[in-house]
Amino acid sequence: MARILITSAIPYINGIKHLGNLVGSQLPADLYARYVRARGHEVMFICATDEHGTPAELAAAKAGMPVEEFCADMHKIQSEIAQGFRLSFDHFGRSSSQRNHRLTQHFAGKLAENGFIEEVTEKQVFSIDDNRFLPDRYITGTCPNCGYEAARGDQCENCTKQLDPTDLINPRSTISGSTNLEVRETKHLYLKQKALKGEIEAWIDSKTDWPVLTTSIARKWLHDGEGLQDRGITRDLYWGVPVKKGDEPWPGMEGKVFYVWFDAPIEYIACTAEWADARGLGDEAWQRWWRTDKGAADVRYVQFMGKDNVPFHTLSFPATIMGSREPWKLVDYIKSFNYLNYDGGQFSTSQGRGIFMDQALSILPADYWRWWLLSHAPESSDSEFTWDNFQQSVNKDLADVLGNFVSRITKFCAAKFGPAVPAGGQYDDRARALIEELENRIRAYEDHMEAMDVRKAAAELRGIWVAGNEYLQASAPWTVFKTDPEAAAAITRLSLNLIRLYAVLSEPFIPDAAANMLAGMQTANRQWPGDVAGALEALPAGHAFTVPEVLFRKISDEERAEWETRFAGVRG
Ligand code: MF3
Ligand code: ZN
Repeated sequence: MARILITSAIPYINGIKHLGNLVGSQLPADLYARYVRARGHEVMFICATDEHGTPAELAAAKAGMPVEEFCADMHKIQSEIAQGFRLSFDHFGRSSSQRNHRLTQHFAGKLAENGFIEEVTEKQVFSIDDNRFLPDRYITGTCPNCGYEAARGDQCENCTKQLDPTDLINPRSTISGSTNLEVRETKHLYLKQKALKGEIEAWIDSKTDWPVLTTSIARKWLHDGEGLQDRGITRDLYWGVPVKKGDEPWPGMEGKVFYVWFDAPIEYIACTAEWADARGLGDEAWQRWWRTDKGAADVRYVQFMGKDNVPFHTLSFPATIMGSREPWKLVDYIKSFNYLNYDGGQFSTSQGRGIFMDQALSILPADYWRWWLLSHAPESSDSEFTWDNFQQSVNKDLADVLGNFVSRITKFCAAKFGPAVPAGGQYDDRARALIEELENRIRAYEDHMEAMDVRKAAAELRGIWVAGNEYLQASAPWTVFKTDPEAAAAITRLSLNLIRLYAVLSEPFIPDAAANMLAGMQTANRQWPGDVAGALEALPAGHAFTVPEVLFRKISDEERAEWETRFAGVRG
């Protein structure tokens, strides 16, 4: 038994996430967490809302709410939706927690102590009418690179070029639209990442088992163009972690906060402390996951994220950890994802394009979405959601294969033998062949899950369902029953046991259906299969069951067409 720490990139607080966000981090992280728990490992699965920075302030202003209230409400909403999708976080925290304030200030203090912080006086855009500096997205203007007129101070959405607010042509305030701007001097803290470049590079080089998507992005940022740069980690904003050096004030930095990308990953640690606090546990309880001097040396730490997050997790956050010169746990494995597109274009939060998590749950239960998203996870390349493909997957894999198997055999048994596992008969050649096939497939499934090859794991699971379905079809107990009831009983007994086995194996993908299958089979036995023949004897002759409700319903052509139209536009 191992100890496994799992974090999902923490979603921004500024709105409800779309399915592309979900499949890029939280959902595959949940799949893995459920799998390793099922294998008996001790797991800590952490996620939170990312609450600071200009996106939060601007979204609150748009909603006409104080930012604190906006974040509290939105955290609750995101937390409920996460439960709706059955995301099994041990804790869903908040980057605005006091734990994160203190820990962020602690890291900044240590970095300063070790000479990795530089105080820089720089020029920033100041809005006279708004009486404030305009960092990042607070400023809008024309992109000097491509001419796009609504480029933001941090990045041009059109050509993706990273920008400084002072780069923009015809700049205006995002809040008031005012062009009454001037450039003023202001002091900021820079994290001297360049001084840590050698260490970071050696560390990344040592990660020979990481996915190419992860290491290629990391190497690109290390070496391309000007390479790894020192990075401003403070902002002239109201909402954020106040700049302090540990517990001490930071002279000259009054009224400033840390940059959102500095405090957000620290929340992974702080969130685990929040988890301990919520349970009345002491500091040892969370430190044994994070401090290598306090028991975390044998923890395996895995992170899940979309590809746009990779630079921050391979370079910036490690720079924070390494520069602290304290024994904090560094990540062991980073699983990153490409993008999911929506019906010929991109999902877009700012444009309201695609399907958002709350909308998805309002039309179908979580398992339908979980199955499609995970079985089409954008791993080796971007992938695309289409309603047609979604309908086909649900109707074939879930309804025709798995759902049909379960309802057919339970109904047959209830009608012919009564609602209990029938006794008598022996395994025939077909049963022995099935057991051998399942033996191979289950070991392959374990390997794919272990390796976090999400699509391959889904394909193997589907293969496991298909094998049972074909066995039942070929064995035809409903025909055999007429001439040889004993043989029909053996087929039925094996098939009913397959339902339990399928529930256990499928739980990481479709937890609700798995729970329904186990409830139908009236068992709490979630034992992961060692040898398959043994696992197929878990429900002995005489064990009572009930015919489960329909596990999955089909999506009709009318529904598909209706949803396609309903979600074609943009969300208001
Ligand atoms: N909020 C960011 C996003 O949605 C992810 C932050 S991950 C963390 O892209 F490392 F900062 F925690
Ligand atoms: Zn541009």
